[in-house]
Parts: sequence; structure tokens; C-alpha cells
Amino acid sequence: MSRFSFGMPFGWFVVAWSAELPPGAVAKRNFFDRELVLFRGETGEAHVLGAYCPHLGAHLGVGGKVEGDSLRCPFHGWRFSGQGDCLEIPYAKRIPPNAKANALPSAESGGVIWAWHHPDGAAPSFDPPEVAEFGAEGWTADWTKYEWTVATHPQEVTENSVDWPHFHEVHLMSPPPERKVEFKGHEILWEAATKKNVTTLDGAEDEIRVIGRNPGLGCSYVRYTGMGESVIVMGMTPIDSESIRMFFGVIGNKAGRTDEEMAAFHQSYADDMAVAVQQDFPIWENKIYRAQPKLCDGDGPVGDFRRWATQFYVTTE
Ligand code: FES
Ligand SMILES: [Fe+2]
Repeated sequence: MSRFSFGMPFGWFVVAWSAELPPGAVAKRNFFDRELVLFRGETGEAHVLGAYCPHLGAHLGVGGKVEGDSLRCPFHGWRFSGQGDCLEIPYAKRIPPNAKANALPSAESGGVIWAWHHPDGAAPSFDPPEVAEFGAEGWTADWTKYEWTVATHPQEVTENSVDWPHFHEVHLMSPPPERKVEFKGHEILWEAATKKNVTTLDGAEDEIRVIGRNPGLGCSYVRYTGMGESVIVMGMTPIDSESIRMFFGVIGNKAGRTDEEMAAFHQSYADDMAVAVQQDFPIWENKIYRAQPKLCDGDGPVGDFRRWATQFYVTTE
């Protein structure tokens, strides 16, 4: 029986870090309960297609080759654009009109390649996420990256952002005395101030202010100020309806440090943040989803969160 009655949400999801896909590269992925192929054309644009060739079903991500801004199938050489159109069949006079590979809407911003997943193939209903600090002057140049496969659901991970009491119990932070949250269209905007011990920096106590933004159920951006100024990106990409690939990246503001000083500080700081994320995994992997939870007055706005989350499903329970 499925642990999560709501199935997979629609939205923008991380399918790769930009740096993983240089021009001319082809990559195979399994997300949204399907095989995908990613490729970056020689012009620099990244594309995401359903992996199986419309001809006789070869996997375009296993032996497929980039030519210009298109991808050639390894089996009989049909060549497809990033939009899935068949551009060439080397041995045919005419291209059959329905010879089309299945393209997913894709975008690239903030050092991440995004794909829009919708169970009915509907077009994007909101813009892909962006992060202003990525690539900006004075910040580390690329994400310090971490990835895990976790047996949970994007909605469960996102619910954590508004679950105030767990920050103390699971992450050993002081209960945030100041916090606010706003559900605004497809986004959640939230803020909290708290204290935490930074284990990799000799347990130093850091007073942090956290400003978070969740554009849909696929990702969250969180800006931390405290001992260091940093931004994290967290991507929750469904592998299927029971498990996700979690992408986690951290960039830091160098704040006048040399690249060398920054490298050591930032690695420790990012590792510490990655430790905090992993503290949630045993809870997420073993809990059930309570549709009718017993809540108390100190809980975060779980009910409001769940009402907001219903917008990302084609049918809701
Ligand atoms: S299976 Fe792709 S060209 Fe034949
Ligand atoms: Fe958490």
C-alpha cells in the first residue's frame, strides 16, 4: 500500500546541477517514475526528453550523441531537437508526422537544471525558481553539493519548513522565538530567528536568522545570516511516489575572506548544514502521513500548509 495517498505533485524539479552537464553531454536520469535523457546542445542550452525513442524504443541516454543543438539516437540514427521534433532520419525520404520524442519543459537558473513535471503533461503554471545570489559578486562560485535518496515525499519535506517544534527536537536549535510564514500563490515565504551549535566549528554557538522561500513542492531556497551569510538550495525530486532524490547545495558570501580562507570555512559550514538535513531522514523514512493529525497550540501552521499544498495535485483527497 502506498504511504502517501496524494501521488506525485506537479511543479519544477531539479534534474541535475548545471555543472554536471557540460556542452555536448548526455545524461540518463530516472525521475517521476520514468526514464529521462538530459542533453546540453553545443549552443549551451540544456534539454530534457523522455528517454525512449519514438521509433523502436532505444534509450536516448545510452549511446545517444549531441549534434549541434540536437540529439541522435544510437539505434538507427534518428535525430531530435530539444523540443522533441524529429529533424532527420538518415535513411528515409519523409519524416513521419508523429515521430516526436516527449520533451519536458525545462529551464536553467541558479546553477540548476529544472524540469517541469505534470502527470497530464500540462504546461507550466508558474515560473521556474531563481536565486539572485548564485553567480553574484562576492559569493562562492558554485554550490557545495550533497545528494541523497530518501524514502519520503516532497510534501513531507516541505511541511518541515513550517513545523516549528521539530527544529528543537530534531535539529537541537532553540525554539524560534520569532517566526512568520505567508502562503502566497505558489510560494511559501517564511522567516525565523534561532540559535544553533555548529558542530564542525567546535560547537560554536551561531545566532541565525533564516529566510526561506518554497516555490511549489519541488524546492526551497533558504538564506541564512549569522556566523556566515549563506544560501542553500534544496531540491526534492520524486523518483516515484515513495521516494525522492534530495539535492542540497550551499553557497556562501566571502565577506572579504580570501578564496583559501573561505574554502575551509565554507566547507565546514556547509557540512554542518548537510548534517542538519540528514537529521530529518530517520523521521521521514519511518513516519506515516496523518491526514487528521492531533495538533496543539504550539504547532506550526500545518493545516494552512496542507491547504496550500493541494494546488499542486490534479486531484486531491
Ligand atoms: S530506436 Fe531510435 S532511431 Fe530507431
Ligand atoms: Fe527538519
